[in-house]
Amino acid sequence: MKILIVFYSYSGITRGLAEDIALITGGELRELKPEKPYSFSYNTAVKEVRGEIERGHCRKLSEGLESVDDADLIFVGSPNWLKTFAPPVLTFLRTVTLKGKIIIPFCTHGGGGFGKMIEDFQRECKDSIIKEGIALEGDYSFDELQEWLENNI
Ligand SMILES: Cc1cc2nc3c(=O)[nH]c(=O)nc-3n(C[C@H](O)[C@H](O)[C@H](O)COP(=O)(O)O)c2cc1C
Repeated sequence: MKILIVFYSYSGITRGLAEDIALITGGELRELKPEKPYSFSYNTAVKEVRGEIERGHCRKLSEGLESVDDADLIFVGSPNWLKTFAPPVLTFLRTVTLKGKIIIPFCTHGGGGFGKMIEDFQRECKDSIIKEGIALEGDYSFDELQEWLENNI
């Protein structure tokens, strides 16, 4: 079974989780990179992101939109941004063909868990099989993650 781990990360925490998932599952990593990165200033980034999320804007990506045809199981990860996934993930979900694919959402967050991210995955990926996902804060334990993955894939 071919496993792909697709993620967007702003400050590196979700990247770390994606790397751990890749290490445990042997899957291939794919980072979603916006053509124009978000501001380094947290407050400016929040303003920028709020507008994009409200408009359902798909941030243009320079990397990450290659075909996923050969993948059977796709982990899709994001930081929780204003209770949902970051706009680069919306771009991915709306651009690549995910019909019939098994998707496992994952996120890192600052206390809000998945927020409404799972409902948003279900809305965007109507032809995919969305399995239970994992939401972790930055200080998660590798062993706990490993155990969760062993029981869920
Ligand atoms: C623009 C922005 C919005 C955020 N909104 C939320 C939120 O609604 N709920 C939450 O729990 N954390 C929120 N966070 C915190 C991030 O989800 C958390 O720090 C995450 O682990 C960062 O992952 P990253 O390092 O991969 O970007 C927000 C962070 C940013 C920058």
